[in-house]
Parts: sequence; structure tokens; C-alpha cells
Amino acid sequence: MKIGIVLGTRPEIIKMSSIIDEIDKNNDECIIIHTGQHYDKEMSEQFFKDLNLPLPKYNIGIGSNTAIKQISIIISELESILKEEKVDIVLVQGDTNAVLAGALAANKLKIPVGHVEAGLRSFDKDMPEETNRIIADNCSTLFFVPTELTAINLQNEGIDHNSIYVTGNSIVDACYRNLDIAIQKSDISDMIEFEKFIVLTLHRAENVDNPERLENIVNSLINLDYNIVFPIHPHTRKSLEENGLYDKMLNAENIQITKPLGYLDFLFLLSRSSMILTDSGGIQEEAITLNIPCVTLRYNTERPETIAAGGNILAGTQEKEIRENIEKILNNQDIYDKMANAVNPYGDGTTSKQIYEIICENYENNTLNISYSEEILDFEGYYMIKVDENITVREFEEKNRNHIIEQIFNNNLPEYVSNETSLKGKTVIVKKFNTKEE
Ligand code: UD1
Ligand code: UDP
Repeated sequence: MKIGIVLGTRPEIIKMSSIIDEIDKNNDECIIIHTGQHYDKEMSEQFFKDLNLPLPKYNIGIGSNTAIKQISIIISELESILKEEKVDIVLVQGDTNAVLAGALAANKLKIPVGHVEAGLRSFDKDMPEETNRIIADNCSTLFFVPTELTAINLQNEGIDHNSIYVTGNSIVDACYRNLDIAIQKSDISDMIEFEKFIVLTLHRAENVDNPERLENIVNSLINLDYNIVFPIHPHTRKSLEENGLYDKMLNAENIQITKPLGYLDFLFLLSRSSMILTDSGGIQEEAITLNIPCVTLRYNTERPETIAAGGNILAGTQEKEIRENIEKILNNQDIYDKMANAVNPYGDGTTSKQIYEIICENYENNTLNISYSEEILDFEGYYMIKVDENITVREFEEKNRNHIIEQIFNNNLPEYVSNETSLKGKTVIVKKFNTKEE
């Protein structure tokens, strides 16, 4: 089997690393295509080194540009690469411009797409990432979702439950596989000025491209009674400089700014921190995986499981709220312990193995192929019923051919639709087709 992987930014390299390992270990062919959206050594090359990954076969070298230019050029370049390589499936991960472009290009070429970390929704269409992930999901064939809650998002959008797989998040694989290596190899603690510290990261467009929000965040952190280590994203550094805020942070005695760190150094730093302040997606997941309380500097999150589990708090971007939340956690051992002991909703570190096996199974069963239908499928509509029978989803669908269960409600709450879910006593929404024989 030949698997194409399209990636473009630091978190994609990290979250794809264990999947690439899995493909290599099983001697399948893996073609890595880097869009070049992240290009600084410390935003890209360092991660291939830290994670022992083969270098990409292709680098489109897109660099920094408007989203429209990035997406359109990537799609056009991918057309020739994917035609040449004839991969059996394209994998994309997450919600960046690489993901949208990769999924759309593959879909147009009728190559099946596996979306890793599918189904996340912040329900905030102002975020570029929200549009990217919705479009990528619309182009995908296999959906690898981290949790059942995420699966429900896709079911609500009419995605067939048979193509949704709850696999956990491959960030857990990356953390588990690399923490010990990081502890042995990283010498970042020699560079850190503080004994106890909070780790801060900031880069979301809605924060760093908004001068008012950026200033509020900076003001909430300077002169705080706690020390902060801040590995700075180049996007953020640029915005802070443009808004005259960089020196303010640099001169604050409680803040140490570093360049963006490699994965091993950053993982080690996180593991030694008292708390994480972030607007990153992946770092909210790493926080709960490493048992570190997290305060998220946003108004919404596509990772609501971390909040429900009790490991993460949404603090927004106002000075008062940010400070109050930090103090509440660091001044109260009870709250701190509860947050640190929140149960990780993102699985046990076997995500990449599961994803690889699901791809192989679909490849072997010939269910990856996108082909023209030879069967007349007349869509009749939806219906809703309360099920009294002792029957599972699989049994219901076998008994009622061409009736697909789209949603299940148990005591009015939506439930994840898996083939083995029992339907007794639940209300279901069914999509019905008529075939020629009927
Ligand atoms: C991108 C993703 C975001 C993801 C983040 C991970 C999109 C729309 N955004 O945001 O979802 O969370 O990556 O870090 O895909 N820059 C450099 N060197 C680099 C890369 C970027 O200096 O290697 C600077 C440039 O000034 C550039 C700016 O950062 O204009 C923004 O880069 P861009 O890739 O557009 O977005 P990110 O903020 O990195
Ligand atoms: N990360 C890193 N070095 C840093 C900051 C972050 O290695 O200086 C890693 C972090 O461990 C996480 C990923 O980058 O796995 C998150 O990327 P980012 O916050 O840039 O993007 P997001 O997850 O928000 O898309």
C-alpha cells in the first residue's frame, strides 16, 4: 500500500509522527508531502530530527502568504504530485491550510482521504481552522475522531457512522513515546531562569492579529506573581513587535521569552511546569495527557472534553478573568489537584496503531475506492422512531436494508452510533433509501 501524507505545520508533524512510524514499521510506502507553510528550522526541520522522521519527499515551499494564495497554490502543486505518485490514500491531520488543500486536491482526484482528528468543532466560523476542518471532513472517506463527542459532531452533519472511527488522539502517542527520551536528552532546564514556572504559548490569529486582545493578554501576564516561560511563535513575535508590546514582555521580570522550542525540549518544559496558559489546540490535549492544569486564552474550544473532564478552563482574553483563573488554581491546592487529576479523554497512546490497522482493513476489503455507483439509490427521506426491540445498530441495518441510522437519542441526549450500540428504549433518526429491487 502507498500512503500519502500531506502536512504543513509543526503540530501536523508531531501528530503524524507516530502514524509515519507505524507505516514504516509495517513496510508500507509512505510519501510525505510538506506544503512548506512552516519553514523556519525551529518550526519544521527540528521536528523531523527530534521525532526521527524521514524527510519529506516533496516540499512545495509555499511559505507565508495569504490563505487564498497558500491554499490555491498547494492544491495546484498537489495535483501533479498526487497524479505522479498514485497513492492509495491521502492522510491529513487537523485543521490547517494544508489539511483543507490536501483533502480537496485528493478528493478532486478521486483519491480517498483519511482525516486524522476529524470532527472537531468550535462552532466559531470566524476561525480559519473551523472552515478548514469542516471542508476537509466533507472531502474525507475515513474519519479518525479522538472521542465519541467528536463522532457525534459528524453524525449530526450526516456522516455515515460506518466511516467514523473513535481512535483517541495521536498526540497521546507522541507524548508517551517521547517523554522519556525528552527527559534523557533535553538540556532546556539549563536555560530556564526559574525553579517554578507557568508555560505560555500564544499564536491563534484571533488573538495575535487583534491588537486589543493581544494587549489585554500581555497586561494580564506582566507583573503577575508567577513566573512564565514563553516559547514564542514567529507569528506572535511579529504581532507583538508591530504593536509595541514585545519589549514590554521582554522587560517583565517574571517572563522569560525563548525561541520556539523543538518537541523534546518543549515536552520536557511542559512536564516540569506548574500550569499551562495557551490558545493552542494541541497543547490543551498535551496538558491533560501530562496532568498539568490548563487555562485556555480563548472564548471557545474544539476540545470541550478537556473542560468536561475538569483539566482545562476557558478564560477568554480579558485581563481580570485571566488573572483570576490563574490565581484560583495556583492558590488553591484542592482545585489544582482536581485539575491535575482530570482523566485524559484522548486514549491510551495506541491511536496510530489503530489508524494504520483501519486503513489496512479498508484497503484489503476494497472499501477505500471511490467509484461510480452501479446501484440506483432513491433517497426517500428521514424518519424518527422509538425502538422497543432488543437490537443493535448493526442488526437494525441488516434487517432494514438501506435504512441507515444517523442519530441516536438516549433520554434526549445524542449518543455515539457504533455498530454494537444497543437501540432498546432509544429514539433514532434514520435515513432511508429505496433500491430498485424494492
Ligand atoms: C498555522 C495554522 C494554525 C496552527 C498553527 C500551528 C492555518 C490557517 N493556521 O498558524 O491553525 O495552529 O499553524 O503553529 O493554517 N512564520 C514564520 N516562520 C514560519 C512560519 C510562520 O516566521 O516558519 C510567521 C510569518 O510571519 C507568517 C505567520 O508566522 O505570516 C503566520 O504563519 P501561518 O503559517 O500563516 O499561520 P500560523 O499562525 O503559523
Ligand atoms: N510545540 C513545540 N514547541 C513550541 C511550542 C509548541 O514543540 O515551542 C508543540 C506542542 O508540544 C504541540 C504542538 O507544538 O504538540 C502545538 O502546536 P501549535 O500550538 O503551534 O498549534 P495548534 O496545536 O494550536 O494547531
